[in-house]
Amino acid sequence: MRISVIGCGYLGAVHAASMAELGHDVIGIDVDPGKIQALKAAKAPFFEPGLEGILESAMRSGRLSFSTDIADAKGSQVHFVAVGTPQKRGENAADLTYVDAAIEGILPHLSEGDLVVGKSTVPVGTAARLAERIDEAGTGASLAWNPEFLREGYAVKDTIAPDRLVYGVAAGEKGLKAKELLDQVYATAIANETPVVVTDYATAELVKVSANAFLATKISFINAMAEIAEVAGADVTSLADAIGYDARIGRRFLNAGIGFGGGCLPKDIRAFSARAEELGRGESVRFLLEIDAINMRRRERAIDMVIEALGGQVYKKKVAVLGLAFKPDSDDVRDSPALDVAVRLNGLGAHVIATDPEAIPNSIRLHPQLGFATDTLDALHGADVVVLVTEWKEYRELDPVEIGELVRDKVIIDGRNVLDPVKWRAAGWTYKGMGRP
Ligand code: UDX
Repeated sequence: MRISVIGCGYLGAVHAASMAELGHDVIGIDVDPGKIQALKAAKAPFFEPGLEGILESAMRSGRLSFSTDIADAKGSQVHFVAVGTPQKRGENAADLTYVDAAIEGILPHLSEGDLVVGKSTVPVGTAARLAERIDEAGTGASLAWNPEFLREGYAVKDTIAPDRLVYGVAAGEKGLKAKELLDQVYATAIANETPVVVTDYATAELVKVSANAFLATKISFINAMAEIAEVAGADVTSLADAIGYDARIGRRFLNAGIGFGGGCLPKDIRAFSARAEELGRGESVRFLLEIDAINMRRRERAIDMVIEALGGQVYKKKVAVLGLAFKPDSDDVRDSPALDVAVRLNGLGAHVIATDPEAIPNSIRLHPQLGFATDTLDALHGADVVVLVTEWKEYRELDPVEIGELVRDKVIIDGRNVLDPVKWRAAGWTYKGMGRP
């Protein structure tokens, strides 16, 4: 199939490369010439394991190309819209400027029978409005909404072998045709018995935001238990293990720590609250504001633990911050709790030396005032306290005996509860986890 992907950010670049990997002829389109230039050279504009490999093989096979000119989408049968829907400045609502621009941009190049497929996370009601716009333009094209559930760090795998597919389609004949086309796009996944939920636009849009709301709730739930564990002298990691054995609850996404960040969960729960207010049902998801508040409190808690560990005096103390990305295997620092902790400690006058295997360039761009070290051991050298805030493998595997020689004071705050307290204490460290005695 000939496919165009409009927007080559995280979602779009991975989607374009993965669709080509699956055998389709794909053109990726973006307004940013820098991004397109990198992608044309098979360079991923961000860190994502496995992406460059499939970019290279798809480009070599001639099935994947990139352009800054949306007119090049003409001739594709399916046009994916994968542009960003960031949080509006100073508001909770999502900014739909890029989605609207993508639709307006593609309209003149649509032909009879083409299918525009929205992938971006949008407030419920957006797809119906866009479908109307496409109908109005009289192109004979139609719209489907096909939310994306990929996780950064596993983006290629999640796109090629998703755990489910959701198609939001129009009623009647148009919807049936849309389903047929999407089944062709995802033929490989369907052959592998991936479940497909075919539904209306509004449900498809809501599936995405409710999935993210649920995941955020799960994380804040366990973090709320961590807050209680802290005052009760209990251990939230054992608690998570114990409740996680109940299959109805499940152990995944029950890791307490400094909370969630990234380009999706925080902005999506805020946009969901804002949209529910607009629909007159603000009270239905008002708990999401509490989920957000619990999440933000965990960063403060980590900072308080550092201050406490330093005896109340942060000024000019050397704090080694391990991690900047919002999660491991990513260079993404959007809404990153790790970067936020580093920035706030720096703001309190601490001499912060932060390190991360991939996210230093993105962090420097936003916060050049921080101290950075590319080598973990350099970051640790002479530290008065160490804070682990992104659970990269190399930090999980640090040898407490070896690095004990480097630091000034053997105090570690484990903001992700990934280190073994017994091992670290045995090596003479003061170990403090989040919600652990
Ligand atoms: C998320 C959803 O998982 C994905 O389905 C959706 O498409 C986009 O948003 P992503 O942002 O890549 O994906 O990250 P995810 O792996 O979900 O982690 C989100 C944040 O939650 C990270 O900051 C992570 O550190 C944190 N987290 C996750 C926890 O604090 N505890 C956990 O138990 C799990």
